Amino acid sequence: MTENATVPADFAESDRVAARLYTDPEIFEREMTQIFERSWVWVAHESELAQPGNFKSTYVGRQPVIVTRDRKGTLHTMLNRCRHRGASLCEKPSGKANGFTCPYHAWSYGLDGKLRGIPYPDGYEGVLEKGELSLKKLRTESYGGMVFATFAEDGESLEDFLGDAKLWIDRFMKQGGGYPIKVLGKHQFKFRGNWKIQLENTTDGYHFPIVHRSWMASVDAETADMMSFMTDPSAITHALGNGHSVMQMVPEHSDLDVDDGTEPLQARFDHVVAELSKTLDEAQVRKVVRAMHGTGFNLNLFPNVSMSAAFFRVLRPISVNETLIEHVAIGPDGPPELDIVNRERLRIHEHFQGPFGFGTPDDAEGWDRVQRGAHGGPDLPILVNRGLAREKASPEGWPTSHVTDETGMRAAYAQWKEMMGDD
Ligand code: FES
Ligand SMILES: [Fe+2]
Repeated sequence: MTENATVPADFAESDRVAARLYTDPEIFEREMTQIFERSWVWVAHESELAQPGNFKSTYVGRQPVIVTRDRKGTLHTMLNRCRHRGASLCEKPSGKANGFTCPYHAWSYGLDGKLRGIPYPDGYEGVLEKGELSLKKLRTESYGGMVFATFAEDGESLEDFLGDAKLWIDRFMKQGGGYPIKVLGKHQFKFRGNWKIQLENTTDGYHFPIVHRSWMASVDAETADMMSFMTDPSAITHALGNGHSVMQMVPEHSDLDVDDGTEPLQARFDHVVAELSKTLDEAQVRKVVRAMHGTGFNLNLFPNVSMSAAFFRVLRPISVNETLIEHVAIGPDGPPELDIVNRERLRIHEHFQGPFGFGTPDDAEGWDRVQRGAHGGPDLPILVNRGLAREKASPEGWPTSHVTDETGMRAAYAQWKEMMGDD
């Protein structure tokens, strides 16, 4: 990084970043406006807003928003802030409503954010135009069931922003085994570290066998074998453009539709197979059960959502050294016969990602340590250069290297640098 640099963008280079990226409150403030108020930020999965009237309250960066589906089926994202004196309109995480009435002075708004009613309207003659006081709206678009919103009033479409990551979203959604995907449940936790420590983690294959040793020891040999990708040259990471990256740990499971039928189903799912076989044909059972461990890759979408195994991981920056993580478990949205599949998927999810699981607590310890260590040696850089010399373009043109290499982080920091440099 440049000595005496004054622009935060100068603190990231192609092979290293400055430790102050995790600790400097001014850099954090700039990230909130330059990145989180300009990017497409993930806000929901469509299954959370399946019916007209469904809503969800969440955040885009640090700004509270409500995501709704109106009576015509259109999705909206708007600031969770009354146009009168700024009270939050909705404190419920999700639900169904006809609209929102502010608890302070009862201004009421429709599901599309339009101001509908004001109590005791006398006093507002000649000084208030209702049509001008809708809730502030964010652009909202969805792809493959993933709903994103942005404060950027113009600029690229969501599809252009996702670019080559769309193929991987399509593949990820195949774990419904022919059924759509729905959210099964979620849980949240905070860690005492900067949001970029999490951003770096999802396509960091290097830490897996080290940090997740206890998880590896807790699963059956078949599962452990499937995850032993460290020395497999076919396990690779691609940079997909715009900060997105994908890490393929089990490449033969990247596209679940590709199945020559020779791979046996895992013995740990025998009871699921026996149950499903009572009502579903063999091919359908195979499809659903084969998808039960996810898709064999982790997809990281800049800046706030990643997709891995059978869940989405959503990050929300709170302050320079505090980040909220939400794990959203997903499964097929099918007939009741699939309940056993979704129950089992939740158990697998809890085993790794759950608060009493083996994986996430171990990751969180690592993230806390990065934050604490980053305060030491402020002049020492954070390295993201692993595999730089062996990175090549894939046939699709994606910068590609081994799954243990830091290609994903370099991709994210290249996007970070570009956005932080813009004025
Ligand atoms: S602050 Fe919402 S109605 Fe007054
Ligand atoms: Fe991890």
